[in-house]
Amino acid sequence: MKENAHSVTRTGTLLHRIDPVIAGRWSSRAIDPDREVPAETVDLLLEAARWAPSAFNNQPWKFLVLTSRDPESLQKGRDALLPGNAWALNAPVLIYTMAYKSYRGKDRENWRRGYETGMAAVSMAFQAVHEGLVFHQMAGFSADVLKESFGISDTYDVFTAIAAGYPGREDLLDEKALAGETAERIRLDPEKIICRGSWEN
Ligand SMILES: Cc1cc2nc3c(=O)[nH]c(=O)nc-3n(C[C@H](O)[C@H](O)[C@H](O)COP(=O)(O)O)c2cc1C
Repeated sequence: MKENAHSVTRTGTLLHRIDPVIAGRWSSRAIDPDREVPAETVDLLLEAARWAPSAFNNQPWKFLVLTSRDPESLQKGRDALLPGNAWALNAPVLIYTMAYKSYRGKDRENWRRGYETGMAAVSMAFQAVHEGLVFHQMAGFSADVLKESFGISDTYDVFTAIAAGYPGREDLLDEKALAGETAERIRLDPEKIICRGSWEN
């Protein structure tokens, strides 16, 4: 890790001890712009995604992978990001997550595609921790801009942009990004999200 680069993991206050990769995964914004991610390492993320579960093993996901080895394509991916995600312009890897709207080979909508593609994305996120990579998912991009510049048809959803790269310097971030970076990692209390034995709306 470079001098001043932050740790790739950051754990909040746990109520129970869980796997350190799950506990430590977080969405950092500080990415080293000068360190390429080897193609083999990007492949590990995509392999993790490929092995995600899906109903009927339908695998609706599809990924647009843009790296610094192809600067023109990466720039097109960067151009679709919204200004609030300017920190992500440092990332040498952008992955756009998509899903085929219908079941493959059938004329029937797969309404679980978002759930399934999210599982593929979090599989990548955990693999990224293993590889020492920052991995930050974003909804802040224009799907229209992306679809237009890559010729992506309406048979696909575009769900998220993911910025990935090696940890960079937090002290080079702008004020807003730095605030997000140093804020405490918090979660809702279990009572808010878990019903045991009976349902509360
Ligand atoms: C679908 C999705 C969209 C997100 N969009 C953005 C985004 O546009 N910009 C951003 O900085 N973070 C974005 N995030 C990151 C979340 O803010 C972050 O996951 C959340 O605050 C919890 O923090 P943690 O990932 O560090 O645990 C997004 C995360 C997800 C899963």
